Amino acid sequence: MNDRSTTILGIETSCDETAAAVVRDGRFVLSNVVASQAALHAPYGGVFPEMASRQHVRDISWVVQAALDEAGSAWADLDAIAVTRGPGLSGALLVGVSAAKGIALASGLPLYGVHHVAGHLASHRLCTGGRRFEPGEPVPDDHPPMPHLALVVSGGHSELYLVRSFASIRHLGGTLDDAAGEAFDKAARLLGLGYPGGPAIQAAAAGGDPTALSLPVGRTEGPYDLSFSGIKSALARVVDGLGGPSESTPATGQVVPVADLAAAFQAAVVEALVRRVARAVQDHPEVRAVLVSGGVAANTALRQSLAGTVPVPVAFPPPSLCTDNAAMIAAAAHVGMLERAPEVADLADLDLDVMASVPLG
Ligand code: KG4
Ligand code: ZN
Repeated sequence: MNDRSTTILGIETSCDETAAAVVRDGRFVLSNVVASQAALHAPYGGVFPEMASRQHVRDISWVVQAALDEAGSAWADLDAIAVTRGPGLSGALLVGVSAAKGIALASGLPLYGVHHVAGHLASHRLCTGGRRFEPGEPVPDDHPPMPHLALVVSGGHSELYLVRSFASIRHLGGTLDDAAGEAFDKAARLLGLGYPGGPAIQAAAAGGDPTALSLPVGRTEGPYDLSFSGIKSALARVVDGLGGPSESTPATGQVVPVADLAAAFQAAVVEALVRRVARAVQDHPEVRAVLVSGGVAANTALRQSLAGTVPVPVAFPPPSLCTDNAAMIAAAAHVGMLERAPEVADLADLDLDVMASVPLG
């Protein structure tokens, strides 16, 4: 291995994925192992925090070992350990942070505490054109282009940032209630489509007519703020009025198939997001690109609508880097090694604590 290369082991346990990854030079994903707890939480229609922590405890050791094995890395090849310190579920975060501290203590390697949302922003350092960089491939220093707008849309976050550099991230706005992914999950529960809701709604919506009913696009105070609870409540009222998904209302005899309900809901969420991003691009003509990340970035309707609306390039990571993963956490730690960006990733001691809710920007 090249003497100047840097190999970081990332660990992520903020929600319901136990993840570990090995990343070289902050750009090349050598391994990216994710143990999803989706099936465990599915009966509850959302993440059950205590069960999440306990499953992380069961999975963390083998996931870390699998990440090293897949990368062909030995402990001696590593230069640093990176771990998500927050935001997220405290009990879940504690598992990853404790494991990372144990590894740092035993190995003597430096430990970086990483902001989870900054990790999503840093996922774009690992890929281009929807694919990961190949190990050794030349990567321009200014990738991703700065300044850019970053939209993070996941089960826990729906935030818009102006990123001039990783040391200069400005929060422009975000959701006032539910996160976009959370709204998808709740809507899927209403429609009896299962968990996680985003992929289920997307699949159901594929055969539906988004104009079959019109749902309100959330109204907010700030120009870049978002709100999804109104869209979800409107959907709930429609489903209620229909006596359940797909059934006819006794009064009107109206029948609205689940596919149409899913399509209308997805269209309303996508429109709310695209409107805010388009407005932010208009107000910040200096931005060179829009970078989307988080689980909802996997949504094809959002991808098509954004790309067709904003006048600058729009980038989405490959799906494996959209949803929670530890490669993005290692990538963010590499940023913390290159430049002082303590909000993104900071060198930590063994007294590193978790931060369940810590804003970025
Ligand atoms: O980033 P992520 O894995 O975890 C959090 O940090 O929350 O995002 C998970 C969320 C879930 O709410 C899931 O329903 C949503 O992302 N999601 C999608 C799609 N795939 C995942 N939402 C819409 N369309 C999708 N294709
Ligand atoms: Zn996330």
